[in-house]
Amino acid sequence: MVERGFVEADPGYLYGYGLFETINVQKGKMDFYQEHMERLIKSSRKIGLNFKRDPFKIEEDCNRLIRANRMKTGGLRITFSKGKRRNNLFITARENPYDNEAARKGIALTVSSYRRNEDSLLVSVKSDNYLENLLHLNRAQDRGFNEVIFLNSKGQLAEGSLSNLFFIKDNVVYTPADDCGLLPGIMRQKVVDLLNENTINCQKGHYSLDELLAADEVFVTNSLMEVMPVNRIDDRVFKVGLDTSLARIRTLYYRKWNENL
Ligand SMILES: Cc1ncc(COP(=O)(O)O)c(C=O)c1O
Repeated sequence: MVERGFVEADPGYLYGYGLFETINVQKGKMDFYQEHMERLIKSSRKIGLNFKRDPFKIEEDCNRLIRANRMKTGGLRITFSKGKRRNNLFITARENPYDNEAARKGIALTVSSYRRNEDSLLVSVKSDNYLENLLHLNRAQDRGFNEVIFLNSKGQLAEGSLSNLFFIKDNVVYTPADDCGLLPGIMRQKVVDLLNENTINCQKGHYSLDELLAADEVFVTNSLMEVMPVNRIDDRVFKVGLDTSLARIRTLYYRKWNENL
């Protein structure tokens, strides 16, 4: 469409100037709403978006959407982006693509040759600029993998295109540190807290691909998949199933947060 004159543009639409949160819905209720809202407000500050909304009102709107869709399980996305005069906030509902079968069998990862820039202003916020991640994920999926892992410019492990990475070696759980070029996930923090509460040794640090490939077990986390076992990374196969350390961690997690599973 061609129009005479100047178009007053919305930076959210034109530049992806915005943020989002994906919240898990189970039994018709949102998981960790407060943590998601805190991250959204903190990240808004980081990218110069003025967040002048009432979190209680947003929560009510989310619950209205859950009821309107008769949602028992699924995901809600809250998008907050820069508008022309007033910033935009909208909430959308979707299905949760991960099922028990995936959690039982585990998922397959591949390592990308693309290097994450750990100094980018965008890696530590859940911004509307997901195209880089999405294109690498699409390529991985075309090759039969479920998720793609990025190293950073120093060759250290960072995270996945939509998840945080963990590995277990000799009963110690490791996850890349915040400065490796990653989004500090809500689920990652829940897992770290859970491990600490249960005196399971958990360390955040700077790790190499070789260390990951030498691990006993690997898993990834995000709000919708929660704690997801990994059955292989490229050609390297990893143990999944009931007789694993991760099975015990998953039991602790679901006992704490989700007794019915
Ligand atoms: C790049 C990236 N890292 C990590 C995560 C995990 O974040 P959370 O646990 O808050 O869902 C996500 C979630 O979508 C993500 O997109």
